[in-house]
Amino acid sequence: MYIDTHCHLSVEDYDDIDLVIKENKENKVNRIIISGCTKDSIIESIDLTNKYEGIYLTIGYHPSEVNEITDKDLELLEEQIKSNSRIVGVGEIGLDYHYGKEDIELQKELFRKQMALAEKLHLPVVIHSRDATEDTIGILKEFPNVIGDIHCFSGSLETAKIYISMGYKIGIGGVVTFKNSNLYKVVEEIGVENIILETDAPYLAPVPVRGKQNSSKYIPYIAEKISEILSISVEKVAKITTENAITLFDLK
Ligand code: NI
Repeated sequence: MYIDTHCHLSVEDYDDIDLVIKENKENKVNRIIISGCTKDSIIESIDLTNKYEGIYLTIGYHPSEVNEITDKDLELLEEQIKSNSRIVGVGEIGLDYHYGKEDIELQKELFRKQMALAEKLHLPVVIHSRDATEDTIGILKEFPNVIGDIHCFSGSLETAKIYISMGYKIGIGGVVTFKNSNLYKVVEEIGVENIILETDAPYLAPVPVRGKQNSSKYIPYIAEKISEILSISVEKVAKITTENAITLFDLK
């Protein structure tokens, strides 16, 4: 059995959510954690937890939403988290400097506020960090009681080791299957004990379906690649990454 620890599931991307869930189960992906990271997707994903078993959520405002979010929205976020036991973390939250740094201070402020919320509610965080490693680590260090998942990790071994030393798990997705990726070197060194699996669907589909619409049902391709890199059985990858996810997000 597998857990997809990070995906996005919306009618904007998928015509038939029933079919997505059915195909996930056929591929042994029995549990998924949807990331609701905009105001609309949070509402939509909460709705999905009322319709389906095996769906959990992390919710939090993505750094790209920084200009939309007020303190009122943060209060609403807290209420939403408190009122739904399937919400198991805060995220994806973090820093994204890929499209410029004009709003860097606002991003940091929003990130800190949501880290503080996770600390207050004793929940793990799901971190989005793009072209912002140093600042991300700096802010995580301000919250030593918070742990979480470094979502869609694609950095250096040195960076991975810093996150691990702070209690974070490394989220490995489709990028590890890409020919031009060096992520296998990180996987080789950190081992399956520090990894959780994710698709980030509908984005970043793994080889051999690269370029297509991604879905949680493709998690086994990522697990197979990791088993190949580490020369361990795919069953062991499934077992340990599932245990890691259950522990980190305290899944019931
Ligand atoms: Ni995502």
